[in-house]
Amino acid sequence: MSKKHLDKVISLCKRKGFVFPNSEIYGGLKASYDYGPLGVDLKKSISEKWWEEMTRHSNIVGLDSSIMVHPDVWEASGHVANFNDPMTDNKDNKKRYRVDDLLSQQKTKVIDDLCRQMSIQNNNDSDTLDRISTILLTQSDKFSNALESAGVIDPFSGNIGKWTAATQFNLMFKTNAGPSEKTGKSIYLRPETAQGIYINYLLVQNSMRLKVPFGIAQIGKAFRNEIVARNFIFRTREFEQMEMQYFVHPSEDEQSMSFWKEKRIDFYTSELGISQDNLKFHQHSEDALAHYAKDAFDIEYNFPFGWGEVEGIHNRTDFDLKEHEKLSGKNMMYFDQVKNEKYHPFIIETSTGLNRLFLMVLCEAYFEDEVNKRTVLKLPFDLAPNKAVICPLLKKDGLPEKAQNIFGMVNSEHKCLYDEQGSIGKRYYRQDEAGTAFGITIDHETLENDTVTIRERDSMKQQRVSCDKILQFISDNKI
Ligand code: GAP
Repeated sequence: MSKKHLDKVISLCKRKGFVFPNSEIYGGLKASYDYGPLGVDLKKSISEKWWEEMTRHSNIVGLDSSIMVHPDVWEASGHVANFNDPMTDNKDNKKRYRVDDLLSQQKTKVIDDLCRQMSIQNNNDSDTLDRISTILLTQSDKFSNALESAGVIDPFSGNIGKWTAATQFNLMFKTNAGPSEKTGKSIYLRPETAQGIYINYLLVQNSMRLKVPFGIAQIGKAFRNEIVARNFIFRTREFEQMEMQYFVHPSEDEQSMSFWKEKRIDFYTSELGISQDNLKFHQHSEDALAHYAKDAFDIEYNFPFGWGEVEGIHNRTDFDLKEHEKLSGKNMMYFDQVKNEKYHPFIIETSTGLNRLFLMVLCEAYFEDEVNKRTVLKLPFDLAPNKAVICPLLKKDGLPEKAQNIFGMVNSEHKCLYDEQGSIGKRYYRQDEAGTAFGITIDHETLENDTVTIRERDSMKQQRVSCDKILQFISDNKI
């Protein structure tokens, strides 16, 4: 996939009502997007697939916790102290960059130079960039001039920047609860949904009489004040996470991690129609692990701008539960009545971003059919916002009335559209771009023998089908 592929997907998103730039009439708000009519349906279908995938396990239950929680939650979780990105400013033009992002835009010889200065090996991967960022931050006195002396270019100006020493930038959005800024408490918008699960885990366990191992799944908004937000909806400041926290006995963490790695990658190929070749695992090196993790794997997708993380699978150990216990003073241990054993379960987390999955699904589905001069969104049937378009060939001779009847019948089973505007070819092509799986045309022959033409989106194959067999045809032929 080329970079152009992304531009084409972005343009289609706006044209067809999947995603719009936010606040466009005011010039837009950077890295903020609104989901249009087709986008809402697609997003909902992806999240429903995820929810079903998780909650079909009888030991996984749901939760919907608040976006705003007691500020101590973020102290205990380590986010106040550690949820930082290293950043640097170019003193010449005041442009600010996340260090790893700036490094990812440099030539190899620049990275080689930095690695030489720091006596580390350049493995030509993102872990090397993370390692350099960490060293720049933790040894900022020693390496305050390292970026400049290595010749790090400012992507905005194209010149070598006059870089400040790397500093921490906390990614949490801080706001105020209560009517007065002076008396109100500072609170944070959650940067992950996970903590809402941890602080409720014993309430959930008790109320549902769950036994370890069990999981709690949640879908909800998360917020991060990203320094660099780009690549359309890939990295935004407001996004939706779908997280499942699986509570296991400490001796079973590695086995559970392997189980979930396999399950999660299967989900992408079997439920979201992603080709295996466009997916891979990336294991975090020890010094690139998040503050809470013992082991971590990303599932990456081959986006038009390169491989990018869509999901993290983390072994968070008992870190979070123990930290909450320390700060709240409340016992966070699970009691196994059968074994008469008390312990802090380990947590295996699967954490994905709904907006990233949405972008992944669109990038995978977007197809330019050179032979037939059309653009097609080859979405799996279950994800297509509309399953069929119902078209009377002409707006007369009783065809619209018959088409409305058929619309009512098909729409009661599958969401569909009614379209009588323009030539039939144009109507089909309009819907190909929107991912609509089938075109159903009502013509004069329909009035004679009660049959319609059904056209399949990807193959463009057309078949004559009896009206009473339309639903059967769809269920037999859906992709
Ligand atoms: N609870 C663990 C956690 O939040 P993470 O790797 O920071 O882990 C998990 O985030 C997932 O959330 C990512 O794999 C990505 O899909 C999504 N995500 C994170 N930051 C995002 C952002 N700024 N915009 C869109 N999605 C984001």
